[in-house]
Amino acid sequence: MIYRFPVTVYESAEQLTEAATTLLEATLSRTTDEDQVSIVLAGGSTPLPAYEALRNLENVIWSNVHFFWGDERAVGPEHEDSNYRMANDALLRHISISDENIHRMRGELPPEQAAEAYEQEIRETLALDPDGLPNFDLMLLGMGADGHTASLFPDTEALNERDRLVVANVVPQLNTTRITLTYPVLNASHRVLFLVTGEDKGEALQHVMTGDLESAPPAAHVIPEDGEVLWLVDRDAASKLDQTNAG
Ligand code: 6PG
Repeated sequence: MIYRFPVTVYESAEQLTEAATTLLEATLSRTTDEDQVSIVLAGGSTPLPAYEALRNLENVIWSNVHFFWGDERAVGPEHEDSNYRMANDALLRHISISDENIHRMRGELPPEQAAEAYEQEIRETLALDPDGLPNFDLMLLGMGADGHTASLFPDTEALNERDRLVVANVVPQLNTTRITLTYPVLNASHRVLFLVTGEDKGEALQHVMTGDLESAPPAAHVIPEDGEVLWLVDRDAASKLDQTNAG
């Protein structure tokens, strides 16, 4: 069975985490050649063990790394739902990196203001390509059971955004507004890594990998223009893929 994107199935979430950490390390170790590396962190729970594993990396010059987020909830940095807080607790406060290298979305501001401020911060921090887009070295993404990624949820306005880098996205199904990077930014990345685990992701993953693209869930529309996208999934999330495979 040929899938839409390169996908590797791991027997367990632990093995997936190991593989993800190795791929992250490959990018981060470039800092020892004085390269500046820009990484976008995903929220949710799947990436947490990989963030914890990064604490122990030795061949990384953290002062050459700039961390960004793909999305944020409309909460402050101390809130238990904050994607920044998750990454800070798991990794950032354990490594020697200055605040100037940590670019969190300010969820404590009104969402539209937070989105505008973040777009400004991206423009001020990173070189932009001829299309006015940042080319992140590594974009980490997860996927929800409904096939959303970052905070690009099915049937929400942000899916149609082609000009702005960051928007405040009203998500009626969660009765909230989220701050999220937009498809132009996701698709300008050098490398996108999806980390997906759990049985509940099976349907969405099958549609992402094998279904009609037009009607496929939001995660299927992350198709980097010049970069690459790799899907790391565990056996549970791939359960439907197996059935298709068995076809
Ligand atoms: C968020 C994330 C979101 C997440 C998926 C998967 O803010 O929640 O950015 O896009 O990656 O919902 O979440 P899990 O990893 O917890 O399954």
